[in-house]
Amino acid sequence: MKTDILEELNIKGFVDEAIDPTLDLFEEIEKLKKEKNAIVLAHYYQEADIQDVADYIGDSLGLSQEAAKTEADVIVFAGVHFMAETAKILSPEKKVLLPDLKAGCSLADSCPPHLFKKFKEKYPDHLVITYVNCTAELKALSDIVCTSTNAVQIVESLPKDQKIIFGPDKNLGAWVAKKTGRDLVLWNGACMVHEIFSREKITKLKERHPNAKFIAHPECEEAVLQMADYIGSTTGLLKYSINSDAQEFIVATESGIIHQMEKASPGKTFIPAPPTNSCACNDCAYMKRNTLEKLYLCMKNGLPEVTVPANIIVEARKPIERMLEISASLGL
Ligand code: 13P
Ligand code: SF4
Repeated sequence: MKTDILEELNIKGFVDEAIDPTLDLFEEIEKLKKEKNAIVLAHYYQEADIQDVADYIGDSLGLSQEAAKTEADVIVFAGVHFMAETAKILSPEKKVLLPDLKAGCSLADSCPPHLFKKFKEKYPDHLVITYVNCTAELKALSDIVCTSTNAVQIVESLPKDQKIIFGPDKNLGAWVAKKTGRDLVLWNGACMVHEIFSREKITKLKERHPNAKFIAHPECEEAVLQMADYIGSTTGLLKYSINSDAQEFIVATESGIIHQMEKASPGKTFIPAPPTNSCACNDCAYMKRNTLEKLYLCMKNGLPEVTVPANIIVEARKPIERMLEISASLGL
């Protein structure tokens, strides 16, 4: 049985087992949490059912902070692979489960560590800041990790004459460079979900909804960010939608965040920003590989587990801890 499951994981990335259709998966997951002393951490881009069963829902920074402090024995990470890796790096003694091992990330894929190493060698006097959306191996090559919540503050915490390489997201990097007035050396990476928004279609949508606020994640291209009333991380966007007096919002990020926006502000309307014709929706295909069924099966079987080599844990932990320290000192 065990061998079959391991074989399945290699091929499919998840445990593919028939589930008794009479089971209430919400109840079963609650039972498994108690039985295994497990905590379910979910990113805002997860499907609504997963968000509803999670113990903590948050952005990349909040999820890392939660993974670092949890007392659970098992962290069930409902997010993508680099997030589960970060949790493992911060809590190496814990078992970290990911419902589907193939929940990757196009942005992390856009920066292969062996090429980044060569890139870094071209700028020996530069400090390396990497966005958390990258592999553990890449973090191990970095000086400080950041998320979209703290990227600006982390750059600003460094002396003005400090030369900096920023990777892997060129859009976030360009936005941070603009906000801080710093000249950052950027790696040419991007997220396929945040690059699909159409400036032309957003312009038309804004004409039809003149009172709507247009809010965007900094992973979007500059041409789209230029139109935004507010730019921020997923938590930033959620807070803005709660605190704003506006009743309508056009949201340029992965559509999963809208579930929490609607829950927090039931009377307000949230419209996903329109993508170009090359794509039909704003879903991250990687985030959406996780389902409630896969979450249940991974908790039941204790598989798939995310592991990180011990030497990478040692090296990758330093820049993540630096980020957490700077964030804590700034009250983020
Ligand atoms: P945040 O949740 O940190 O804003 O990041 C968005 C993202 O793309 C995660 O994959
Ligand atoms: Fe990666 Fe983009 Fe998906 Fe976030 S939304 S996990 S950056 S592919």
